Order: sequence, then structure tokens, then C-alpha cells
Amino acid sequence: MKTAKSLLPILSLGIAELTVNAAQMQCTTDAFAKYLASDSYRGEPAVVQWAYRIPKGGTFQVPDSDIAYPESPTDLPELCVLQVNVTSSTESSYTFGLFLPSEWNERFLAVGNGGFAGGIYWADMGVGVRYGFASMSTDTGHNSISTDGSWAYNSPEKVTDWGYRAMHGSVVLAKELANAYYGKRAGYSYYSGCSTGGRQGLKEVEMYPEDFDGVIAGAPAWWTAHLQPWTVKIGTYNRPGANGNQIPESLFSWIEAQIIEQCDPQDGLKDTVISSPQQCELNLEALLCQGPKTSGSANCLDPAQLETLYNIYSDYVDTNQTFVFPHLLPGSESQWSVLVNNGSNNPLGYDIVQLADKLDPGNATARNFDLSPFQNSGGKLLMYHGMADGFIPTDSSRYFYNQVAKTLAPSGIDLDNFYRFFYIPGMQHCAGTPDSMHAPWYIAGPNQASSLSSELHSVPGFSDAQHDILLALVDWVEKGVAPDFLIATTWKNDTTQAEVYRQRPLCAYPKMAFYKGQGDPDQAKNWECRSLY
Ligand SMILES: *[C@@H]1O[C@H](CO)[C@@H](O)[C@H](O)[C@H]1NC(C)=O
Ligand SMILES: *[C@@H]1O[C@H](CO)[C@@H](O)[C@H](O)[C@H]1NC(C)=O
Ligand SMILES: *[C@@H]1O[C@H](CO)[C@@H](O)[C@H](O)[C@H]1NC(C)=O
Ligand SMILES: *[C@@H]1O[C@H](CO)[C@@H](O)[C@H](O)[C@H]1NC(C)=O
Repeated sequence: MKTAKSLLPILSLGIAELTVNAAQMQCTTDAFAKYLASDSYRGEPAVVQWAYRIPKGGTFQVPDSDIAYPESPTDLPELCVLQVNVTSSTESSYTFGLFLPSEWNERFLAVGNGGFAGGIYWADMGVGVRYGFASMSTDTGHNSISTDGSWAYNSPEKVTDWGYRAMHGSVVLAKELANAYYGKRAGYSYYSGCSTGGRQGLKEVEMYPEDFDGVIAGAPAWWTAHLQPWTVKIGTYNRPGANGNQIPESLFSWIEAQIIEQCDPQDGLKDTVISSPQQCELNLEALLCQGPKTSGSANCLDPAQLETLYNIYSDYVDTNQTFVFPHLLPGSESQWSVLVNNGSNNPLGYDIVQLADKLDPGNATARNFDLSPFQNSGGKLLMYHGMADGFIPTDSSRYFYNQVAKTLAPSGIDLDNFYRFFYIPGMQHCAGTPDSMHAPWYIAGPNQASSLSSELHSVPGFSDAQHDILLALVDWVEKGVAPDFLIATTWKNDTTQAEVYRQRPLCAYPKMAFYKGQGDPDQAKNWECRSLY
């Protein structure tokens, strides 16, 4: 039956026909188990742990034992949910969850993880299933919160699952199960992930170019073997010590305010948002204490602390000019948790970076820049990175983009035809914006909807391919309409999404959004995409 409500997600996906796909199979553990036993799937042994139906408007209650993503998605469409456990070696196994909606848009969607988070991301699957996608997520082979990597010690098989094996294996098997359930293959397959999820997406593009027609990779932690040493290194800049170089956390918001005051006007419009942090001419000396610092004096930095600030805004370059990692951008100060309590007395050097490069635990690093197999198979890749990201330096994404450009230039492949990169001025890591900037950041990207509510998907009031990156990807893959820009949104209160505060275009790199000079700068139509040079 077609109902007005059920048509909505289909219309926004731009396909005319809604098919209510009568399932070809029952939603029971036994039904799926029988299929696994008889199917031609020849991977690792897999066991269906449970399967049951959730009625329209229902909640999927995340089991208490799932500590990575405890948020339960609510107000779900009618669906069949199941969990499968796959044995990947004698010492390792991974699980994945699958939502199979009764009103299916005939598309498959896999969502990614974050940090070391070992857990099925049920909340992001909930976002996907509300559009009508058959939605899948894997625990990557362990059960942990995003900051806990202790499961990896002496467990190379588990690291391999986390590196790439669990995602690919889950994708292959989940597609087979969806195919069996509906009696029909998904027309298109998509991936959406941020941070570690961005890395997982790039890893899929590089290793298994046939898995997805379209991939969204947000703020990707793609260079594992350099990112982790950088994280330790930057902590050492600010470690407590006799030389007085430590900047106390209590000064971060003051520094942020000084940086916004310096950089915001330099992008051509004073609007609290730093739109071109790389072009900002910093005058850090303005933060120096005049005269001796006393307990009563105003906020300021002494010369040793200023040195620390210079280090933070500088690339990590090791012995013999070996480039290790780009720096954090001005404007990322509100998320500088890597500088707090993280300063071990363990300066990492060139040797460790070299070692990490060679070992590349789990082959997790996504550094095969030859994306031509993915391009040849018709794949489309959308990447973005917030410019106020204080966890993963923003320009590690530009570095990746430029490496791909360099690798593919000799074969004459135009990146614009299959791969586009968007900076998001004023967005923190994957989601959110500093209160002091209140920049437009929301594009319905991975993790964004579930960070605001347990029942949200797409962009309320703007559910179209200009405002919603997933719909933009679908349009690119299925209709060949590539996004030259996306429109980011922020509300007066992002939690309630009641009243839009600002909207602004995000331009495909290397173009940037410029205010036209007339009209309300909080409306996207008063901006245009232009090249800086
Ligand atoms: C998956 O199966 C393996 C092997 O039976 C078991 O050790 C593991 O605990 C199971 N994992 C989950 C999350 O149920
Ligand atoms: C740096 O280069 C010098 C001269 O080539 C070499 O002797 C030294 O081993 C290099 N250092 C490292 C850490 O690679
Ligand atoms: C990692 O990649 C190397 C080179 O392709 C390969 O020889 C090795 O088997 C891979 N290791 C894992 C754990 O996949
Ligand atoms: C936004 O709305 C939520 C939910 O009503 C409320 O708890 C929160 O205080 C509001 N935030 C601001 C900044 O007003």
C-alpha cells in the first residue's frame, strides 16, 4: 500500500515507484539460519544469533552489553532486525546487525564506526532505515568504547578485523541476506562513515572497489600509522615540565576567542566563522604577557607557552625533513582534548614512525592512492572535513585528495568525475560547531543525525540533494548529477531543529564559498563558489 508518509523518502530519493517488498522469507532466526546453511556463501562460518520483527514506530533496544553505541534508535519504520556472528579466524570473530525495512527503497547502506569503537552502530542504522535503505553495521570484531584500544594487544587477528576484514565480510554477507529476504538484489549499494568510519570507507574503495556504488568518507582517520604518533607527539608539546611550556586547559577558550578575532575578518566577512583558516595570517605575539605574569593579571601567554602554540599550529616534521602529519587549524581550539592529560614523557621520533609505517597494524591505513579501479567500476566518492576539527587535523584530508590527484594525473583521470572533497568551515570532528562560531555544519552526514536525536534522518524541511549529502550521493550515482556544492545548515538550537539560524554553501575543493556582498549572509543564496586564485 502506498501511503503519503511512506512516499516521502522515496520521492526525496527521486525515484517514481514505491514497491512494498513483500519479504520472501520469514523474519526468524531459523529462516535466516537455513538460508546460511544452504546458500552458496563460502566465507567464514556464520551464525544467525537472533532475528525478529519491529513494528512501525517501534524502538530497537540496544543490548546493555553493547558499550560502544548504547543509543537506541526510536520511531523506526516496520522492519526485520537480525544479528549475525562470523568466525574470522581461530582467535577472532565479528558480528554485524542488519535492519531490513518492509518498505524498501531497493538500496543497501553500510554505516561505519568511530575511534576504536567496537560495536554495532544501531543508531546510525536507524538513520539509514528511515530513508528505506536495508542498513548494516559491524562491531569490527570487538566490544569497546571508542577510546579503548586495549583489545588489540597481542591480537593481530582482531586488529585485522578492525583494519578491514570485518567491514568487507559483513558487507558481502549482509547483501546476500538482504537478497534472500526480498528475493531481489539491491539496485545500488552505499557506504556512509566518519572518522574511523571515513577510513573504513576509503579502505573499501581501495581494496574492494566493487562493494559500493557510492561512498561518503567524513573526516577520515585514513593514515593510521602517522595519525596515532601525531596524537602522542602533540600531547608532548603540552606536557607539564620545568620549562613552563604548558598551556593550561583553562586558557583554551580564551585562545580560541583571540584566534577567531584575528582570523574571522581575514576571510572577507566578519561573521564568527573562520572560513579560510589556512590563509589566516596569525599574530600570536599579540597573546604574550606584557611584563611579568602575576596571579591577578589578565589572560596571556609567556614566551615558552607561545612556543607551544607555534608547535601546535605547525606540521609534524621529523628528522631530515620527513613529513609526518599536518597541523591543527586555527579555529580548532574548542576541541583540543588531545592536548590535555595526554602528554606522556615519550617523545616519538622518526624511528617509531618508520616502524609504524612498516607494521601498519591490521593493514588499517588507507594509503593506496590509486583509486582508478573504483573509478573504473563507476564508483563515486564524497569526502568532507570540518575546519574546526580538534581530533584529526583537517588537512590530512587535503593531503589524501592531493595524493590521489598526483597518482591519477598521469592516466588523465579527472577527479571531479568521481571524487569530490568539501571543507566545512567551523565544523568540529564529524559533527557540531563551537558555540562561539555557530557555523552551518549539518549535512545529514554519518553520525550527524544520531548526534542530535534518536529519531532523526535527513535535513528537516530540506530533505533534498542540495542539503543532504546522502541524497546528493544517490543523485550522483543514479542520475549522474554531481554536487558542485552542498548547503550546510545550523539551527538556533540544533537539538530541536525548530528554527534555521544559518545556511551556507560548501564548495567542492578547491573552490571556496564567498559572500556576494549583498543580502543576508545567513542565507545560502547570497554566497557563491569561486576559486581562491
Ligand atoms: C561470536 O562467536 C564466537 C565463537 O562462538 C564467540 O566467542 C563470541 O563471543 C561471539 N560474539 C558475540 C558478540 O556474540
Ligand atoms: C638523517 O640524514 C643523515 C644524513 O644523510 C643520516 O646520517 C641520518 O641517519 C638520518 N637520520 C635519520 C633519523 O634517518
Ligand atoms: C597486509 O598487506 C600485505 C601487503 O599487501 C600482505 O602481504 C599482508 O598479508 C596483509 N596483512 C593482512 C593482515 O591482511
Ligand atoms: C536546546 O533545546 C534542548 C531541548 O529542548 C534544551 O535542552 C537545550 O537547553 C536547548 N539549548 C539551548 C542552547 O537553548
